Formats: sequence, structure tokens, C-alpha cells
Amino acid sequence: MLNNPLDVAIFQGNGENERMEIEKMFCNLLIELPGIVFLAKEKQNIIGVMRMKSCEGSKTTDEPKDSKDENDISWMQLENKVALITGAGSGIGRAIALYLAKAGADIVVNDIDSKGAEETAQLIHRCGRETLFYCTNIAVKADVEEMFTAIETKFERLDILVNNAGITRDGFLLKMTEDQWDQVMVVNLKGVFNCTQSAIKLMSERNSGKIVNLSSASGQMGNIGQVNYAASKACVIGMTKTLAKELAKFNINVNAVAPGFILTPMTAAVPEKVKDYLIKGIPLGRAGTPEDVANAVRFLVSEESAYITGQVIACNGGMYV
Ligand SMILES: NC(=O)c1ccc[n+]([C@@H]2O[C@H](COP(=O)([O-])OP(=O)(O)OC[C@H]3O[C@@H](n4cnc5c(N)ncnc54)[C@H](O)[C@@H]3O)[C@@H](O)[C@H]2O)c1
Repeated sequence: MLNNPLDVAIFQGNGENERMEIEKMFCNLLIELPGIVFLAKEKQNIIGVMRMKSCEGSKTTDEPKDSKDENDISWMQLENKVALITGAGSGIGRAIALYLAKAGADIVVNDIDSKGAEETAQLIHRCGRETLFYCTNIAVKADVEEMFTAIETKFERLDILVNNAGITRDGFLLKMTEDQWDQVMVVNLKGVFNCTQSAIKLMSERNSGKIVNLSSASGQMGNIGQVNYAASKACVIGMTKTLAKELAKFNINVNAVAPGFILTPMTAAVPEKVKDYLIKGIPLGRAGTPEDVANAVRFLVSEESAYITGQVIACNGGMYV
């Protein structure tokens, strides 16, 4: 009996299976309102869930914040799909992982940061989706191949690859070290090469797949102090367009999303004054959120974008048009 969808729900069931079903049903509520708890299990019967007033302590700060209607079936169109998101341990990658999980996909979380990867995997588990996490450094080809062997063993397929992991090592060219240049190139560019090459072997076997690469407004318009980063992100656009042409025969769509200024751990160190200056240059008048970017990615991996390939979707509030 459901008195008020956001207040109290009473269920009767026979044990663990029912509990898992209810957890699935309430996946979105549990994410939005982590204070919902199972009131009690009595003689293995689940008798209730309730929204508690205090939700503190059970939510990480960068979970998706906006609410989606659970009854909206367009949200469930990734059921039975398996998605790998690199760099999903924080920021934009975590938001993408959670949005795709909420849309029904099982998620492989990759991040070199094991704590972040595990946290994301736990959040996905709460959505009732299968998940694995790998702390593979995407810059190391042999390690990436090992990760893909494990994915194949576990899921026997890969439908979606989001090449999200990326780093900055900013500096003016005159002072930039060779190491700063190499580090950015090896993660932002070679990492995309490594993961995509392994992914297309799995995707082409099934004659279907979706690949989304994270580029950047910096790669489109240039940005002072980011010659390495801007170059890597411009290269990602070149790779996206080329792979869209190469992989169309396998029914694999390849697109890029180019975020503008998004509030994540990557941009957390930007001084307030610079943030204010940047926001003044954004026609929509605000910085972006990881969820703004996740929405664009969710569209690009859905069937709604079946006839879109080789495109760069800017997600920048009008910062670069
Ligand atoms: N935040 C922005 O304003 C912005 C703007 C444009 C583009 N982007 C791009 O979006 C993507 C996500 O950025 P974010 O802001 O969420 O950054 P973030 O730093 O919050 O997240 C990046 C994640 O990638 C992981 N990572 C780094 N190197 C890795 C490696 N070698 N192997 C595996 N994982 C690795 C990090 O541990 C981190 O969890 C990046 O590609 C970034 O370049 C971000």
C-alpha cells in the first residue's frame, strides 16, 4: 500500500528477493532521498519503508541532484546494456555512471583512484545494477587489455564506452616541462586510443555500440595556460570524427561532448576571482554541473541518437558557440 509516494510505503513479502525488488523500485528515491530506510523486517517479511527527516551521512556530495520521474520509461531504455566509464570515480564520470545506471545499464567503473571507484560502484549497486570497478591506469595498454578481458569474462559484451578520464597539467608553454606535456597526452589521448581499440573488438562482434569521448571547450577555442590540454582535447575531436567514419560499418556511433566550465574536483582549485570572471563569459550565467554533461552523454548513448555520429555536442552554457 502506497499512501504517499514520498512519505511511507508498506510492503509485505517473503524475504530477501522481495527486499531486492523493493530496493530496485525505490532506486531513484534512494538516490534522491537517501534517508529512506526499511523500517523493519519481521519474520522475514518486509513491512515498510519510510522517508526519514534527516538524510545526512548517507550521500556523497557529487551524486546527481536532479530528480527523474521513475515512471518515465524513456529513462529505462539502457536495460540489458553494459557500459564502461573511465574516470568514473569523481566529477563528470561519476554523474555519467549514475545516470546510465538509472537508465538501466550495468556499469563497469574505471578510475585510477580506487577509493573514488569503489564509492561510485557502491552508489550503482544501490540502483540495483550490476557493477564492477577497476583501478586500471588507462594510459597503460597492457593493463587496459587485462581490464577488457575481465569485462568480457564477466559480461560477455560491451555496449557503451565513455572515454571520460582526463587530467590537466597547466602552464604557459615557455615554462611547461616535457613531463607536463607527456602526462596529459598519455592519459587524455593515448588513454582514449587504448580503451577504444579494446572496446571495438567487443562491439564489432555484436555489430553495435556507442562511444562518447569527453573533449573540452578548451580544445575548440584554445585556452591560455593549457596548450597541452587543449591540444589533447582537439585531438580527441579528430579521433571522434575519424572513428565515426571507420566504425559506421559496425553500427558503432562515435560522438564527443565538449564541456565548458563544469564544477568538479578538476576545477575546484580555480581561484574564486577566476571563476567569477569565467562565469561572466557564460551567456547562461552559471557554471555547468556534472549532471548537465551526463544528460548529453545519456542522449548520445541512447537509441534516440541512432542517426548521430561524428558530432561534437558542446555543453558549455553558450561559452563557445
Ligand atoms: N570540469 C570541467 O570543467 C571540464 C571541462 C571540459 C572537459 N572536461 C573533461 O571531462 C572529463 C572529466 O573531468 P572532471 O572534471 O570530472 O575531472 P575529475 O578530475 O573530477 O575526474 C577525472 C577522473 O579521472 C581519473 N583519472 C585520471 N587519470 C586517470 C587514468 N590514467 N586512468 C584512469 N582514471 C584516471 C581521476 O582519478 C578522476 O577521478 C575529463 O576528460 C575532462 O578533461 C572537464
